[in-house]
Amino acid sequence: MRVLVTGGAGFIGSHVAEAALAAGHEVSVLDDLSVGKRANVPEGARLFEVDIRDGDAVRGAFAEARPEFVSHQAAQASVAISVREPAFDAAVNVVGSLNVMQACVEHDTARLVFASTGGAIYGEVAEGTLASESHPTHPLSPYACSKLSVEHYLAAFSAEHGLASTVLRYANVYGPRQDPHGEAGVIAIFARRLIEGEPIQVNARRTEGDDGCVRDYVHVDDVVAANLAAFEGRIDAPVLNVCTGVATNTRSLATRLREHLGSPSDLRDGPRRPGDVERSVLDPGALSRVIPDRVPLVDGLASTANWFRDTGV
Ligand SMILES: NC(=O)c1ccc[n+]([C@@H]2O[C@H](COP(=O)([O-])OP(=O)(O)OC[C@H]3O[C@@H](n4cnc5c(N)ncnc54)[C@H](O)[C@@H]3O)[C@@H](O)[C@H]2O)c1
Repeated sequence: MRVLVTGGAGFIGSHVAEAALAAGHEVSVLDDLSVGKRANVPEGARLFEVDIRDGDAVRGAFAEARPEFVSHQAAQASVAISVREPAFDAAVNVVGSLNVMQACVEHDTARLVFASTGGAIYGEVAEGTLASESHPTHPLSPYACSKLSVEHYLAAFSAEHGLASTVLRYANVYGPRQDPHGEAGVIAIFARRLIEGEPIQVNARRTEGDDGCVRDYVHVDDVVAANLAAFEGRIDAPVLNVCTGVATNTRSLATRLREHLGSPSDLRDGPRRPGDVERSVLDPGALSRVIPDRVPLVDGLASTANWFRDTGV
């Protein structure tokens, strides 16, 4: 099959592109390299250096690549940036996604897989509970608003144009190649700083000095498996959480990584970050029927920390 991965020079997209190639598909990557790196694009994939905000350029790339399946990963992916620059977030995440969706319609793409966010879209998830796909949505940041609005546009495009889509609501994804210098991706940021002996900071959940926000950390291999399952028609549901259901706070993450790496780094306390939800843990029930086994956090943390140590990224 011909597969196009938007954002395929970034963290998750490059893993999806790599796995699609390994599965024997013909793979194109569409990325403006604003955050992603050319070096992340796997050998054998064709790169279209295109900004998704440029509808004509997106259409041009689709005309050449003629994708049967599209994995739409390209995005402004930081909650913090979306709070500071909401119009920029909407330009990339809403208007850019509409350009991708229109190109899919014009080129009869069989299915569009959309990287949405379970980590931000449900808002606060009450203590002791897991958010399933039917949990009410309550976006608390411009980033969550833009992702949820694309989900609605996809339903409208399905009704109006028959565009088939699968929405994957990722929890907090981690793994090799995540940008350790960005504002999102706490495991990558901690790993890099711990390796360099720099202090790491636990941003508060409510008040400085608490254990920080609670999240559901899912390994990128599980996210890749969900994307491939969607291409292969193994996901019936229009919306699927991609998560583990395991709740982890920032302090325990920091402590475990520091211990694994044997780092002398200081652990400091920081203030709450605007836009951050306090607790987000998702229900993996539906995902379990597609992907029964997920990477356990203890293994995923160790292999990711080792990757950052061994590659020097
Ligand atoms: N990492 C997570 O924990 C997480 C969680 C939920 C959802 N997501 C979503 O998954 C997707 C991939 O995230 P990631 O962590 O790999 O982020 P990333 O920043 O590593 O990758 C995004 C890619 O999109 C590209 N891009 C950005 N703006 C673009 C534009 N205007 N035109 C073309 N390309 C553009 C970047 O260059 C980058 O290569 C995003 O849609 C993100 O919102 C990520």
